Amino acid sequence: MQSKLTVCPDNDPTKQEVYVDFESIRSLLAQYKIGYERWTAEAPLSETATPEEVAAAYKSSIDKIMKMGYKTYDVVSLHPDSPNAAEARKKFINEHTHGEDEVRFFVDGSGMFYVHIDGKVCMLLCTKGDYINLPAGTTHWFDMGPKPHFKAIRVFNNPEGWVGKFTGSTISENFPKYE
Ligand SMILES: [Fe+2]
Repeated sequence: MQSKLTVCPDNDPTKQEVYVDFESIRSLLAQYKIGYERWTAEAPLSETATPEEVAAAYKSSIDKIMKMGYKTYDVVSLHPDSPNAAEARKKFINEHTHGEDEVRFFVDGSGMFYVHIDGKVCMLLCTKGDYINLPAGTTHWFDMGPKPHFKAIRVFNNPEGWVGKFTGSTISENFPKYE
């Protein structure tokens, strides 16, 4: 699977501009102060790697991000057979913001971020190796799909304060789901 950025006017999901090369995606997102990088593991990692092994394999990348002033990080994973998969998908599938940055690195698997900004919706399909940093206040939603499969490093200013403030907009219903 390849990472992909699809940009649409926020009132017309059928008018799509598609970008797949790293530099196009990075520079487009940078216009909106959204960080996008690709990280590579410094050591081989198995599917069953522990959170400690995952953190060790990406140590230099994590260290670089933590120096930006973040306080903590963790490693989360979700599998299609997780009993809470449907519940987890629903949690952030509607448009919201956070008082803190949303910082994610995809160790494995995939998910779709939708950023609503400047009259556009930027749909970023994140795959293994993708790092994304949505600054606090960025209007967005996230779809992990009906069979969620990902392992991600999450970086926080303040994990207790990391809650969704929902805008009440139903715009997410007009855009293609991540299937
Ligand atoms: Fe979010």
